[in-house]
Amino acid sequence: MQHKSLKIKEMKLYIEYSNKDIPKSEDIKTLTAQALQAKQTIINRSGNGNDFLGWVDLPEQITTQELNDINSVAKTLRKKSDVFVVAGIGGSYLGARAVIEALKNNFDYALNTTPLVLYAGNTMCEDYLSDLMQVLDKRDYSLCVISKSGTTTETAVTFRILRNHLEQKYGKQEAKQRIVAITDKEKGILKNIADKEGYKTYVIPDNVGGRFSVLTPVGLLPIAVAGFDITTLINGARQMRNELINHDTSIALDYAINRKYFYNIGKQIELLVNYQPNLVYFNEWFKQLFGESEGKDNKGLFPASVSNTTDLHSMGQYIQQGKRLMFETVLHVENSNNHLSIPQQQDDDDKLNYLTNFSLTQINHKAEEGTRMAHLDGDVSQIQLSIDKLDEENLGALIYFFEFSCAISGYMLGINPFDQPGVEFYKKNMFALLGKK
Ligand code: PA5
Repeated sequence: MQHKSLKIKEMKLYIEYSNKDIPKSEDIKTLTAQALQAKQTIINRSGNGNDFLGWVDLPEQITTQELNDINSVAKTLRKKSDVFVVAGIGGSYLGARAVIEALKNNFDYALNTTPLVLYAGNTMCEDYLSDLMQVLDKRDYSLCVISKSGTTTETAVTFRILRNHLEQKYGKQEAKQRIVAITDKEKGILKNIADKEGYKTYVIPDNVGGRFSVLTPVGLLPIAVAGFDITTLINGARQMRNELINHDTSIALDYAINRKYFYNIGKQIELLVNYQPNLVYFNEWFKQLFGESEGKDNKGLFPASVSNTTDLHSMGQYIQQGKRLMFETVLHVENSNNHLSIPQQQDDDDKLNYLTNFSLTQINHKAEEGTRMAHLDGDVSQIQLSIDKLDEENLGALIYFFEFSCAISGYMLGINPFDQPGVEFYKKNMFALLGKK
């Protein structure tokens, strides 16, 4: 078993190999050279898909004026909305949702928090949208429609229905004040509609793909409407960017090197693991980022996730003793934002007094440590990414860390990490079945 740690600010990466997975030093040396070359490919913009590298400099390029504009539009929308609907799919909503869910109260819907951020345009399910509209009938709301292409069916169909609903509820003029469109700067059906109707619009830059767009208005507007600090989010990403671009040893390189090592020795699945339910959508964002970026040319690790300790009581069995396919990347959060400790019980009728005065986080961390040890024994090697707490700065840094690592990983795998040609196949069949002309 080997153990090493690299640290950026408060973020650390540890790697522990199971006895069967210990690498030879030549393996890591070769992969390190490949990772450095991949990093250079990003910096020189010389690889496949290099016209989609706009995300690399986003944290440096976004101006105070742009952030102020987003914050001011968000403030207006917050004032007039009990509910804020984010309509988008894939990269056009998962980043915003990952950050919002990580930072919000888990039960905000029961606390009358306003605005409550709800999601649409990510499914064609009739019951889902009907249920949402029952809420929208009763509550004041506004809507942000996000689509780079402007033609994605799930989002477009939802937008048509909700735009009609808004117009009936508020009249055409007020509906316009309640709709923001985030799309391409000049082309696409959504752009045409937004121009015709005079909606407030934001641009998704040409050189930023959907799953790399969370640090553009795609992520920033919904996050700001939800009441979180987008300037600090960007600052976190900027600090991570400076570390990763300017150093030839970094947690991103080390992560990419080890992912590729595990892939080379036959691992097929990377499990992203967290220990808190408010990170479930961070898992979803991660799965899209890596799945769409790497899964092509019959290559790539299959990105999966679990949220523990919940999933230790379902998937835990497979991970411990099922087919040996995976390694784990555990997102460890050192400190919780709230504190709750176990009270003393006079008669110890539940036999839990041995835990008196432990905080739940301390117990959660022991569960995490015990699981790490058990999984290592079960031949599941461990990568641990540790942050001090969940806040805007760390989430910004994490987003940039995973984007950068993903690009390096994709180039190490020999694929274009920035396209997604496979997504078109189902669309082609669906359009033919629906008789689209
Ligand atoms: O990462 C991607 O490019 C995709 O997941 C897209 O974000 C997703 O398909 C939605 O596309 P659009 O924004 O064009 O509606």
